Amino acid sequence: MKTLPDALLPVYDRAPITIVSGHGCELVDEDGKRYLDCIAGIAVCALGHTHPAIAEAVEDQARRLVHASNLYSHEPAGILARELARRSGMSRVFFCNSGAEAIEAAIKLARKAAFRRSELRRTTILACTGSFHGRTLGALAATDNPRYREGFAPLPPGFAFVRFNDVADLERKLDERVAAVLIEPVQGESGVHPADSGFLREARRLCDERGALLIFDEIQCGMGRLGPLFAFEYFGVRPDVVTMAKALANGLPIGAMLVGERAADAFHYGDHGSTFGGSPVPAAAALAHLRVRDETNLEENVRARSAQLCTALHGLAAEYATVFGAPRGLGLLLGVPVKEPHKAKAVQAAARGRGLLIGTAGGNTLRFAPPLIISEDEVSRAIEIIAASLPNIA
Ligand SMILES: Cc1ncc(COP(=O)(O)O)c(C=O)c1O
Repeated sequence: MKTLPDALLPVYDRAPITIVSGHGCELVDEDGKRYLDCIAGIAVCALGHTHPAIAEAVEDQARRLVHASNLYSHEPAGILARELARRSGMSRVFFCNSGAEAIEAAIKLARKAAFRRSELRRTTILACTGSFHGRTLGALAATDNPRYREGFAPLPPGFAFVRFNDVADLERKLDERVAAVLIEPVQGESGVHPADSGFLREARRLCDERGALLIFDEIQCGMGRLGPLFAFEYFGVRPDVVTMAKALANGLPIGAMLVGERAADAFHYGDHGSTFGGSPVPAAAALAHLRVRDETNLEENVRARSAQLCTALHGLAAEYATVFGAPRGLGLLLGVPVKEPHKAKAVQAAARGRGLLIGTAGGNTLRFAPPLIISEDEVSRAIEIIAASLPNIA
């Protein structure tokens, strides 16, 4: 397939390569060219591509049971829910198929929790400036990106925005109409912006004081990307609701909403549902992912490789100060702002030409979200490739 598949709606800016296989941190295109993958399917393939434990779990489950529906119990979803609850300290789990669906569930849960307390005016979802929560209408209404919202009006009402990391603004806007405050502990799509832990701590305190739920969207920054399994553990601030998706099953579609004690009884029979949510094969893959984490010191690798990558990116940013701003991010979710926005795509394309895949975010930021298993040599190689790509662009 040498040309792009033009029967697909043109909603993605696809690079002109067709990927046919992958292994570890490497992807291979149809010409046999190999790429070091430092974007991991946009923070999805945390264990790298075609990890044997995931492949085995998928194969085994596919031979046993692929779908029975949520009319019945099945082991993979039941065990996965228990494991996620145990590891997070949350009470209950709802499974869906994507990040946006996990956000939809959290929005509905926050409103229903207020409804159950007869607080009928408490319906506002207070999201943050710069946020990205997905493309469905509810998630989009909580997303502060005019480009993504344009042409889709009317979006659902009941959403407001607080300035990200601005405690005074939060203090002002978190009133008795707010059902939940929705925060990405690290904003990924807007260009890799970590929350201040002071902002998250104050959000926790104000939500408690004023009767709102605190929702952390860990869809991109969770599942070990900052080191610990959950981003909230990194910051030491416990939310009432956590949304997960992306890396949960290392590439198979699944989303999850984890609900703490305070809101665990908000949903009753019939309040929400999904045909495929928590389907056996993705659930088995997610369980395999958790098992691999138990057997490998991924947290230490994230810490070490993050430090290595940060140091190298700071070095490059200093050397090419006319091109780059100061790198930012946490764990293995790092961004380097590019001063002239068109150069971000140019660096990305030049690196790809030399066999390195990186992402962009927020229009002018290079985004690094490699598999969490990336080795020291692979990080060094990534930096060498970027350095070699720069002289033609700077
Ligand atoms: C923080 C965050 N929330 C929600 C989403 C939406 O997830 P999905 O694309 O699986 O619907 C994303 C996707 O990039 C995300 O990064």
